[in-house]
Amino acid sequence: MKKIALLLVAALLCSLGAAAQDKPIIKVETQGVQLVFKVGDNGRLYQSYLGKRLTHEADLKHLPKGTEAYITHGMEDYFESALEVEHSDHNSSTELKYVSHEVTTQADGATLTTITLADDVYPTSVKLRFAAYADQDIIVESTEITNGEKKPVVLRQYASSMLHMRRSHYYLTEYSGDWANEVNMSQTELNFGKKVLDSKLGSRASMFMPSFFQVALDAPATETTGDVLVGTLAWTGNYRFCLEVDQHNALRVVSGINPYFSAYTLKAGEKFTTPDFIFTLSDAGRGKAARNFHTWARNYRLKDGNGNRMTLLNNWEATYFDFNEEKLVNLMDDAVKLGVDLFLLDDGWFGNKYPRSSDHQGLGDWQETEGKLPHKVGYLCQKAKEKGVKFGIWIEPEMVNPKSELYENHKDWVIHLPNRKEYYFRNQLVLDLSNPKVQDHVFGVVDRLLTDYPEIAFFKWDCNSPITNIYSPYLKEQQTHLYVDYVRGLYKVLDRIKAKYPNVPMMLCSGGSGRIDYEALRYFTEFWPSDNTDPVERLYIQWGYSNVYPVKAQCAHVTTWNRGADIKFRMDVASMGKMGLDIKCTDMKPEEVEFCHDAVMNYNRMKPVILDGDQYRLVSPYEGNHASTMFVSPDKAKAVVFAFDVNPRYAERTYPVKLQGLDPNREYRVKETNLRGDKYWFNGRTYSGDYLMTVGLELFSNRRGLTSHVIELE
Ligand code: DGJ
Repeated sequence: MKKIALLLVAALLCSLGAAAQDKPIIKVETQGVQLVFKVGDNGRLYQSYLGKRLTHEADLKHLPKGTEAYITHGMEDYFESALEVEHSDHNSSTELKYVSHEVTTQADGATLTTITLADDVYPTSVKLRFAAYADQDIIVESTEITNGEKKPVVLRQYASSMLHMRRSHYYLTEYSGDWANEVNMSQTELNFGKKVLDSKLGSRASMFMPSFFQVALDAPATETTGDVLVGTLAWTGNYRFCLEVDQHNALRVVSGINPYFSAYTLKAGEKFTTPDFIFTLSDAGRGKAARNFHTWARNYRLKDGNGNRMTLLNNWEATYFDFNEEKLVNLMDDAVKLGVDLFLLDDGWFGNKYPRSSDHQGLGDWQETEGKLPHKVGYLCQKAKEKGVKFGIWIEPEMVNPKSELYENHKDWVIHLPNRKEYYFRNQLVLDLSNPKVQDHVFGVVDRLLTDYPEIAFFKWDCNSPITNIYSPYLKEQQTHLYVDYVRGLYKVLDRIKAKYPNVPMMLCSGGSGRIDYEALRYFTEFWPSDNTDPVERLYIQWGYSNVYPVKAQCAHVTTWNRGADIKFRMDVASMGKMGLDIKCTDMKPEEVEFCHDAVMNYNRMKPVILDGDQYRLVSPYEGNHASTMFVSPDKAKAVVFAFDVNPRYAERTYPVKLQGLDPNREYRVKETNLRGDKYWFNGRTYSGDYLMTVGLELFSNRRGLTSHVIELE
């Protein structure tokens, strides 16, 4: 008897040992970053490590178990959870245990790790997905939640990602602002408690803060030093990042759709897939993190990320709503004089019962205004063709003015409260994209234009209102689905457009201020960062967005904002992005028009380096009176350096600026371009990359006034 008992104990111990050994260590890794998960004895999944990739595989076993990876509501944790499910019996607890994991290769080459977790008590399962892009150190994470119950359940919290860090200090950089004053960088140290960055605008990710953040770990980061976690949510609607430090000074970052007024009911057997949370971890400061995002975006996310971008002339600031055919054709002549590729017709071309003569009426009625365009858009396409420029057009198809035929005929398509006075943002309302009929209407706006005028070569898609008066006539008793279903409806429309017209470039616009995210950028080639085109302000705004978005996607236009900056300064700032002009030649002297033309030609030559090269931000406008940024071609054979004296002080001491990213063993010839007035004394000289990066160049001066320089290195 005793013998049998001993044998049983031995067998049990063996099986426990085997179970412990069988517990997998799951690695999600890129060249430089490693995210490691372990399974605890309780069967739950733990995030054991997130940091620089360890050199020796064997060391992974020494890593501590860590913190539960995707913490659920209702169990023993006292801080922010990633998932809250109200089961059909109204019990809101979920406990997830490891079931399996698999590693596959995605169509785009990324390594996809999928970890499946499930509850023992309820048939709720969760898949955590991590796509790792090895060369760019980018990890794209999303979550799929399945309701296996026979009745509906309600998702109250459904994060895309939960990440844990255990470091001595956390320094959060956030980018708050407002319309025409976007992405102002500020830093705060995170201490015990929560910091929430979120938005509730509905039709766009942000206006007051873009949907990305940086956290420097242990110590504040610089452009070239420090460990930094940078994350962004690919979702064109309400987002939320909750950064919470607990009593052990551990940080958790919970990222996803904002759960605010968004409880989501899943029917029996239904799945919910969250948007992507995209992050990188740099051990060499913000600059490297930004380049990781830029290269990844151009190669894997941004529409036509490796393609060309057209320069353009837009009529918005040249005419506003006050134009006719003659004025537009004259502006096409300006486009020719300036040497740009495309003429872009902005707001104000549509509406007959209520002509769009101001932003108070006409939105939604997408027929050409007879008084303004008697020969319709086809005539403008024809004129553009004759002049050798392409033609693009502005639309804002998700919106409606109450003074419009669309509103009169289809009030049931409009998001509004049936029993209250309507509140308008820019005199307009948002159409209910959760309704498939509205999706057809929005698709139809683009489809009609491209069917009637296949010459249209570009769209500027605007979105000037957040969702106000939140109530969907279509969703009826499921009102808390509206924020999510609006965005999903938008993606359905964009998918149809992309499928039928895959090659038409489109600009994503929302009066600036932030309809910018990496899901929308699957469909858009570029975005409008701000209505503020003052070149001094743009130095800050373009710097802010470049923490996550490549300059190839950032439209930068020359306008008449800030005439204190000369035309060279304005052209030089716009040359650091996807260049356009929004100005008329009659606002400039002939010599200025000629300068712009030459600068556009120079830009065309430098474009491959600026738009497809690696960006090194040398001197931040936030740090003093000057700013400098450079771009280096991937083969390091060429570079373009921009330098700006923004607020030089009398007798201020300036110092050489050390360049970055060059080949130390190559010789580079310095050639200044966009010349107008003074040039650098070292123009025409040749230096080694080592010299340029170690000693640097005297790029700044203390002369009064705004000055700028552009140099090409070859
Ligand atoms: C807001 C945009 O940012 C502007 O460029 C212009 O297109 C207007 N909308 C038109 O209404």
